[in-house]
Amino acid sequence: MSGVNEIRSTFLDYFRKNGHEVVSSSPLVPRNDPTLMFTNAGMVQFKNVFTGLEKRPYTTATTAQKCVRAGGKHNDLDNVGYTARHHTFFEMLGNFSFGDYFKANAIELAWNLITKEFGLDAKRLLVTVYHTDDEAFDLWKKIAGLSDDRIIRIPTSDNFWAMGDTGPCGPCSEIFYDHGDHIWGGPPGSPEEDGDRFIEIWNLVFMQYEQVTKEERIDLPRPSIDTGMGLERVAAVLQGQHDNYDIDLFRALISASEEATGIKAEGEHRGSHRVIADHLRSSAFLIADGVLPSNEGRGYVLRRIMRRAMRHAQLLGARDPLLWKLLPALIQQMGRAYPELVRAESLISETLKLEENRFRKTLERGLSLLSDATNTLHKGDMLDGETAFKLYDTYGFPLDLTQDALRAREIGVDISGFTDAMQRQKAEARSHWTGSGDKATETIWFELREKHGATEFLGYDTETAEGVVQAIVRDGKAVDSASAGEQVQVVVNQTPFYGESGGQMGDTGVISTDNGKLDVSDTQKKGEGLFVHITTVTEGTLKVGDAVALTVDHVRRSRLRSNHSATHLLHEALREVLGTHVAQKGSLVAPERLRFDVSHPKPMSAEELQKVEDMANAIILQNAPVTTRLMSVDDAIAEGAMALFGEKYGDEVRVVAMGKAIEGPKAGKPYSVELCGGTHVNATGDIGLVRVLGESAVGAGVRRVEAVTGEAARAYLAEQDERVKTLAGALKVQPAELVSRVEALIDERRKLEKELADAKRRLAMGGGQGGSAGDFKEIGGIKFMGKALNGIDAKDLKGLADEGKASLGSGVVTLIGVSDDGKASAVVAVTPDLVDRFSAVDLVRIASVALGGKGGGGRPDMAQAGGPDGAKASEALDAVAAALGA
Ligand code: ALA
Repeated sequence: MSGVNEIRSTFLDYFRKNGHEVVSSSPLVPRNDPTLMFTNAGMVQFKNVFTGLEKRPYTTATTAQKCVRAGGKHNDLDNVGYTARHHTFFEMLGNFSFGDYFKANAIELAWNLITKEFGLDAKRLLVTVYHTDDEAFDLWKKIAGLSDDRIIRIPTSDNFWAMGDTGPCGPCSEIFYDHGDHIWGGPPGSPEEDGDRFIEIWNLVFMQYEQVTKEERIDLPRPSIDTGMGLERVAAVLQGQHDNYDIDLFRALISASEEATGIKAEGEHRGSHRVIADHLRSSAFLIADGVLPSNEGRGYVLRRIMRRAMRHAQLLGARDPLLWKLLPALIQQMGRAYPELVRAESLISETLKLEENRFRKTLERGLSLLSDATNTLHKGDMLDGETAFKLYDTYGFPLDLTQDALRAREIGVDISGFTDAMQRQKAEARSHWTGSGDKATETIWFELREKHGATEFLGYDTETAEGVVQAIVRDGKAVDSASAGEQVQVVVNQTPFYGESGGQMGDTGVISTDNGKLDVSDTQKKGEGLFVHITTVTEGTLKVGDAVALTVDHVRRSRLRSNHSATHLLHEALREVLGTHVAQKGSLVAPERLRFDVSHPKPMSAEELQKVEDMANAIILQNAPVTTRLMSVDDAIAEGAMALFGEKYGDEVRVVAMGKAIEGPKAGKPYSVELCGGTHVNATGDIGLVRVLGESAVGAGVRRVEAVTGEAARAYLAEQDERVKTLAGALKVQPAELVSRVEALIDERRKLEKELADAKRRLAMGGGQGGSAGDFKEIGGIKFMGKALNGIDAKDLKGLADEGKASLGSGVVTLIGVSDDGKASAVVAVTPDLVDRFSAVDLVRIASVALGGKGGGGRPDMAQAGGPDGAKASEALDAVAAALGA
């Protein structure tokens, strides 16, 4: 008998042989449909191909698609555990034609697969067609040779398939398998059709229309085909089972849960094991596709599924968290076909454990409250809404869990009472709205947040997605639309744009609709949960309710990822090199560079910085995967995750780990572990390279390290290299000889400077020959040397004046240096025998005044002054000479 894995590959191989492209399952969170909660059919990823919006390099395809039917249009959550065929997660096998073949081929391909490849007995098969579809009726007759009574016309929506309220749709034809007359039930369309004897195994949809709005339906560009065969159902048929939960895959999961709980899947426990097996699949696959339990949107549907399973684990008497223990069994069954399960194993495991631990804290008490509140109730009674709300609010019981818990006793729940209690609590919360900025402008975000719920962030897994516009805000007020040229803030139900936080800048990119285009220049988080796109409408108009395509600037985001991951590596490296007193004091993760402030009391040396850079690059070269897990803050910190003091964390935190420590106490463990909500590279190698540019002081005890990564680091190094080459070329040496050449040049220059200074001095002092006659005078018996010296610095004048004194023996020397910019400095020296008669300080003041200055200072034998007017040098000399004669 074929196992589930073989059936899946037989199906895909059959269609591959028939010219179909085998396409991977798309994620459970639809990227291309803003209205769908989860991918609920194989055709979802091809929606835009059917409508002609998107072109693919093939016109026929086949898939095994992961589907979740919980919390959306198709919601099977409440039935799981009570029926033989309901699942929250299932696989849909399908073949698709995008304007290629139509009804005849689709019917022929389907008939041949089930009767020839799968070998089903044609006598056990019957089909339905939409009541007006004579063509399909005739084709079944011709191709399958079915008699008229086994081609049943159905006039209801059962034979008209639509993806959702909008999207591609068309009449369909379903293939049924007759499990035999030992099971009660009648053929489709008969009064006994709800029985379990005749089971639909394959739905062939003749896609012909697109439902554009609720009222408007148009033709698709070309008639197409979409089929869906539930893998679990067909496996049951092929394995001779009537119940989906008896196929090999579910038997394996259920026996893992029997083993872990020690309770057989029999009698009253059968349903609980089924719920656990089913919900384990949906939870694990949803987490692998980026959904994490939360109190809103998809995350809340996941939480409901998980908690429902956890109550059933509790019913089975499991004392410790159970679901995570069953994950290896699931991975064994499905990990080959869906490697994302293997990749996300630790995230799934931690998330299951965390949620179950958390829920167990309140589950017992909640159940006892429930039992107290219902012990006087009977079959057909209602639990009051207040109690249901208290269970929800205080004990974390989703409404459907409470309903499920009372189902066996046939007690209902007063839903409107529950909703009223919820509304009252919201009104109460409203009075506590606070924002970071001006109250009036912030209030709008809280109002929108309450009206629409938190924005779902899809940007950990994708950079493009579709969404529905929930609000447009212009100048602090909500408006219905915006047109070209206007600057508005836009809120969409889900977005891949990262809102600035944790130092990482917000994303930029483009939002587009059929009628307009917006440039997103920034994304900010507001009102505790909204992602607000700061935009300018560049073309057309945007309206509330529009479906939009959101595209993040990929290059910029990649750089942000690299820089953010590099920040984590530098943080750890700084702690290792400088000590564990190093704590993050702030950071800026920009696309061009990263900036990281840390507590450290003194400047870092060049060697320390080099070591930090080397360590970070060693981890980059490991190319180790970067993993993300969801944990409680306490557990994360216990595991050594670095948390930022004073930062507000929720109950659950993302823990980002990267690299492997090679030595030290952490050897073999992750190199860096931090609490972080930012976006990161997939593997450290994606960073490419990190280059520390330098460090500086930003405040008392805080140093700032700046660095570049990836392309920016490469460009930086290339520029440095170019500079070295240019220098080497100019100096006519090889780059390797550059340093010794430059050192030699510096020595040579020093020598030359000295020689030059000597030469100038000699020249100034008359070539050492006593100078020219004009420079010497005798004034009243005092020898006077007076010289104006161009290009001699103030610092050299004193030495020259000393030389002058020596050559005079007894006398007064006055030297005036005129610099290149025309300013003057003057030195007057008086030989010791004359200091009683003349003070150098007085004389230099006279010179200074003549030079436009305000005097100078010094000692009686040597004084110095300056003045702006070098052109007056000879006047100054004359003035000093005159003073000697007076
Ligand atoms: N899209 C069709 C279905 O889900 C095949 O039944």
